[in-house]
Amino acid sequence: MEVIETVERMQESADEFRSAGYTVALVPTMGYLHEGHLELMRVGRKHSDKLIVSIFVNPAQFGPTDDFGEYPRDTEGDLKKAREVGADVVFMPSVEEMYPEVSQTKVHVEKVTQHLCGISRPGHFEGVTTVVCKLFNATKPHMAVFGQKDYQQLTVISRMVEDLNMDIEIIGVHTVREQDGLAMSSRNSYLNPEERKSALCLKKSLDLADRMFQDGEKTARVIREAVESLIKGHAFTEIDYVTLCDPATLEDIETLGENSLLALAVRVGNTRLIDNCLLRKT
Ligand code: PAJ
Repeated sequence: MEVIETVERMQESADEFRSAGYTVALVPTMGYLHEGHLELMRVGRKHSDKLIVSIFVNPAQFGPTDDFGEYPRDTEGDLKKAREVGADVVFMPSVEEMYPEVSQTKVHVEKVTQHLCGISRPGHFEGVTTVVCKLFNATKPHMAVFGQKDYQQLTVISRMVEDLNMDIEIIGVHTVREQDGLAMSSRNSYLNPEERKSALCLKKSLDLADRMFQDGEKTARVIREAVESLIKGHAFTEIDYVTLCDPATLEDIETLGENSLLALAVRVGNTRLIDNCLLRKT
């Protein structure tokens, strides 16, 4: 496994893969790798000849009061995990390498960035699409793998790829959870044991909403109120949003149809957690 720190060397290596006739998958991450990330890598590995994993904590997607400075890092552990899962290259550029002072260009996706996390995190998705576009240009993948845990991110990136005619297949992977249901996230490491218990309210909410929907409830307001009251019953929680929306446009819905998205963002102590599920008849 090669560890590459410059865009130039990464592009050379990508060209070598392509001219040898290999297909290339990219898994972009911000490191502090967990089973969710590793699952994305296994999927990338399965679908392609060469697997590139990027590790870059992207300052452009953090707001001024976000946790960029404290974001957990473990380069040695990450490299070991990437190697075990069979990555061919880990691309690990510095901030200066990705954002030289002269750079002036951003990638902005319009409508789907305006809902859910776009409301409470202005500029976040512009930071994500800009860095993902740069990572695509550095690694020249045939396909890139993203998690459904960040459902809006997956939607925004798919939109960008289609709108800008990028010749890259976007693969979405199911959310990987801890045994008790908590969606894996690098940010779970911020939770103290009490907060960790309260954090289970996210998955419990998704399960409650699904039960209500399967039992015939179709009014978004009724499901939202039940979810909000479940969350409020857990200590240290503060709701950012509980939203039922159309899974394609992310626009709010009043009545649930065949396929709806329930998306949650909840602060538990100082840690902002997100989760989601699709509600459809089983
Ligand atoms: P990060 O939070 O490190 O996540 C990297 C990838 O792992 C994303 O596609 C995310 O959706 C996926 N992921 C995280 N937790 C997961 C889980 N429990 N199950 C399945 N997949 C999971 O998302 C980012 O980094 C950044 O925004 C990035 C795309 C790298 C751009 O900077």
